[in-house]
Amino acid sequence: MLEHAVTARACANIALVKYWGKRDAARNLPAAGSLSLTLDALVTETTVHFDPRLTADRFTLDGGAAAPGAAARTTAFLDLVRQRAGITTRAEVTSQNHFPTASGLASSASGFAALALAATVAAGLELDHPALSALARQGSGSAARSLRGGFVRMHAGTANDGTDAFATPVPSALCDDVRMVICIVGGGAPKQYGSRDAMSHTEATSPLYRAWLSCVDQDLQTAHAALAQADLAALGAVTEGNACAMHASAIAARPSILYWQPTTVALLHAVRALRADGLAAWATMDAGPHVKVLCHQRDAAALATALSATPGVTSVIISKAGSDASIVPQGHLR
Ligand code: PMV
Repeated sequence: MLEHAVTARACANIALVKYWGKRDAARNLPAAGSLSLTLDALVTETTVHFDPRLTADRFTLDGGAAAPGAAARTTAFLDLVRQRAGITTRAEVTSQNHFPTASGLASSASGFAALALAATVAAGLELDHPALSALARQGSGSAARSLRGGFVRMHAGTANDGTDAFATPVPSALCDDVRMVICIVGGGAPKQYGSRDAMSHTEATSPLYRAWLSCVDQDLQTAHAALAQADLAALGAVTEGNACAMHASAIAARPSILYWQPTTVALLHAVRALRADGLAAWATMDAGPHVKVLCHQRDAAALATALSATPGVTSVIISKAGSDASIVPQGHLR
């Protein structure tokens, strides 16, 4: 079983109700639930081969040697898989992000989801969906959501061992029609703080952290009701409000964590102006300057054209909802 290389593909996701804060940093357990949309346009493919001839793990990312930090996180994750499978064999890992070039989008969600699926199958483990999602969570919190397609709910869980902190899909009639217009903000922004450090810094120093956490459960309920009623306007309103609350808590940390660039703010104003003109569009932002806009399929192209005119936007990607992570049959690699 260990002789075979296994390739898995997973899509990135964007949270509509954000994950920002942990109840247990060692096990990477979230302080609250979150809810996301998996994106078809942002795919990672990862191949894992446990090879008895290797003396150390080898990790190639996008055709080159991975940075030391990324390699260390990959080995730490593979150690979890090896522990479960009762093996010590080192692995060759090759990962390719099929993201539009130079988008600067974070890929840890799709990356750890694809790694979790490929590595467990390559190690001969047969994990069910919850167990695989809980495992991926230990690589990156948002990766737990990238194993499933469409709208996905991450459960915070209550167990100390984290076995009930996993993600499940949320069926909704909105899934076919929803689009995300991803506005990439470039222009020489300084290096951003990684979400892991920024989250713990917010928890430790922001006077708004408790206020942020206290609004998450209500926002999740609102989002679930919107999905059940296929009400994009209600989903959009809670999406934009929740992102602003998360960023407010980070901005209030001491020293402040400010992911927004001037172009980010210009895009927020542009989305509001388009909405005032009758377009159904709502913005969300993550641990970087990019702005992702939730909308109907019918409006996506017009929104992309309008928003790409904002100075500082370097590219715009339109994505529909993505599907579950899957094993790529040999001979079908992209
Ligand atoms: O999964 P992480 O550790 O990369 O954190 C994700 C943080 C946000 O993208 C800002 C929010 C989210 O829920 O995806």
